[in-house]
Amino acid sequence: MLIAIIFRTNFGDLYVKHFLTTNDWSQQELALLLQVAGKLKQSPINSKLKGRSIALLFLNPSMRTRTSFDLGMQQMGGIAIVLQPGKDAWGLEFETGAIMDGDAEEHIAEAAGVLSRYCDLIGIRAFPSFVDWSKDREDYVIKSLAKHSPVPVIDMETIVHPCQELAMMMTLQERMGSVAQRKMVLTWTWHPRPLNTAVANSALLMGTKFGMDVTLLCPEPDYLLDSQFMEAAKANAATSGGSLQISHDIDSAYDGADFVYAKSWGALPYYGRPEDEWVLRKNYRHFMVDEAKMALTNDGLFSHCLPLRRNIKASDAVMDAPYCLALDEAENRLHVQKALMMNLLGEK
Ligand code: CP
Repeated sequence: MLIAIIFRTNFGDLYVKHFLTTNDWSQQELALLLQVAGKLKQSPINSKLKGRSIALLFLNPSMRTRTSFDLGMQQMGGIAIVLQPGKDAWGLEFETGAIMDGDAEEHIAEAAGVLSRYCDLIGIRAFPSFVDWSKDREDYVIKSLAKHSPVPVIDMETIVHPCQELAMMMTLQERMGSVAQRKMVLTWTWHPRPLNTAVANSALLMGTKFGMDVTLLCPEPDYLLDSQFMEAAKANAATSGGSLQISHDIDSAYDGADFVYAKSWGALPYYGRPEDEWVLRKNYRHFMVDEAKMALTNDGLFSHCLPLRRNIKASDAVMDAPYCLALDEAENRLHVQKALMMNLLGEK
């Protein structure tokens, strides 16, 4: 899989470890991160990253990711620099060999080189362009950054959202203990327009990596996730003792579920053509998570990465129920990312 190629990059003798997707990391490495995150949750303030810094590049909006990375670094004695290329920093070009006669003033080769002279880590959020999935599926923006960065790079959401999946798993383990062989339903939900598949891709990878019996529920085959993630999830399940099922039937998918994870995403065969996708999408408002569906579960838990449109993706009653873990998961972003920054900087 292409994503794995630059998990580590070489700069002469320097060997750089990145966090671009959880599928580059073993289940044991991720479990250790979650253990450390648990300890940091109990004792949040330390000086382990005193004098260290992270540059946070946001090409798209954020509330949770920006706040939790910035605060997390401060809680460990470090500093975060937030930059919005194209707004308060120069617009960036990521393609090798580009003739830069468009809007971008700076190539990532120089930007990564400069930021790594100042900072110990670089995080980037760069949503796909929603024009050409055959290009976006290569995750070329973060790969280009990692290729040019002699310091570790963190994916803050591109076509995957690995920090979110760490937080999801930490939250589940807090409630369930071991998650192996527990039934997880990753359900597509209604939303008025096609959204990024990143969180769904990541949830699929993480659930299968930790041995869950994962059912991907979506309205029809056009809403299946990209084959690279479906195949990786199958491979994960084969290794972990979990399983992966596909369902287009709401009742049987929810039946007996221990955990329902909701996300809306666009149908990839219609990528870049939202008007055409609407012809499908308009039929599936009933995929919203509601109390009637949750009643089919095994007293199941529910979560979502947030932000969430209430009574569109999930009902008020579900969001306000004691089984809704969305706020716990959002809080745990802080703890898992602190553990991740420590790990990438060699701190125990
Ligand atoms: N879940 C998440 O990444 O939230 P933000 O988009 O607010 O960062």
